[in-house]
Amino acid sequence: MKMDANIERQRRKDEHVYFAVAQHQTKTTSQFDELELINDAVPMLNLADVDLSGEVAGLEFEIPLYINAMTGGSPHTEKLNGQLAEVAAATGLMMAVGSMHAAIREPELASTYSIVREKHPNGVLFANISADLTPEQAQKAVDILQADALQIHVNVAQELVMKEGSREFDHWLDNIAAIKEQVDVPIIVKEVGFGLARKTIMRLRDINVDIIDLAGKGGTDFARIENARRRDGKWDYFNDWGQTTAQSLIAIQSPNYVNMPYFASGGVRHPLDAIKCLALGAEAVGIAGVILAYLKEHDVEETIEWVETWKEQMKMIAVMVNAKNLSKLRKVPVITYGRLKEWGELRGVKLEQLAQRLM
Ligand SMILES: Cc1cc2nc3c(=O)[nH]c(=O)nc-3n(C[C@H](O)[C@H](O)[C@H](O)COP(=O)(O)O)c2cc1C
Repeated sequence: MKMDANIERQRRKDEHVYFAVAQHQTKTTSQFDELELINDAVPMLNLADVDLSGEVAGLEFEIPLYINAMTGGSPHTEKLNGQLAEVAAATGLMMAVGSMHAAIREPELASTYSIVREKHPNGVLFANISADLTPEQAQKAVDILQADALQIHVNVAQELVMKEGSREFDHWLDNIAAIKEQVDVPIIVKEVGFGLARKTIMRLRDINVDIIDLAGKGGTDFARIENARRRDGKWDYFNDWGQTTAQSLIAIQSPNYVNMPYFASGGVRHPLDAIKCLALGAEAVGIAGVILAYLKEHDVEETIEWVETWKEQMKMIAVMVNAKNLSKLRKVPVITYGRLKEWGELRGVKLEQLAQRLM
């Protein structure tokens, strides 16, 4: 029985990677395109002056970019974790591992996660668990990775569409609060691609969560992935559930209800999307599906080059808007269009203020 559950969990991990990569190749449009930054034709800085380093909750980074939670828990995903960690180490990216339940239940699977610390010994690394675990189990996950922070994922839509998924959620908030009190690293609460709303964020802020990761819709779609894994009665109408990362970011601009640090991730396709997230106040930006898909088609060296290009282009865009660091980027005017504008207006966000920000 135990063996069956392990095999099932490992198969699920491998299927998530397979379907995420397949899905990535079909994505074309993005709501990030309904956000626009304004060109500055006479910037008062050189490319070499741009410094996008930052610090949040004691986590220091050279570049505000991290590889978001994906893998671990099976031999195939150990290899992937190792490769992603090599890329992160060579480029100075922060990195999260995928949900560590497998390692907590089966200690022999710990190496499928700790390989990331081996390959990225000085990196800023995030452990990852669900909101179901006890504080002791959460601390164990942190210890396995020698993690600098702990991501707790909240993924109601995925659980419900997943045939074998959880149906009980009313203990999550208390559990997260208990983990926050007892675990000795900063706590990041993240979605898995459906977005975090203001009300949810305020609940998390009230229990002293350190950082939230909006992890919105627009990239990897776990409702679609779980539907693809179901052998019967597909619930296709759940696909596309949730709010995009652009919507989640816009909703918390003004009035500033949330007043806590946030990361942005979900559907970030290229350096311009990343800079838009930073202009909307994200401390750092996460990428998952896009780097996984790239690594599937290229080797580690090529993927390192690809990330270096991202870093360089993020700095180039910062020059184009005359922002030499993260605090200047947060003052860049941001224009919203179309459905995103409609959304912002309905949610009471002062979009004109955002569009008319003064540098
Ligand atoms: C193959 C795969 C596995 C994932 N597994 C996890 C996980 O175990 N825990 C978690 O918090 N998020 C997980 N995610 C979600 C990502 O961290 C991220 O929130 C989501 O993919 C949206 O970002 P993207 O559009 O850049 O892919 C996974 C994503 C992918 C692609």
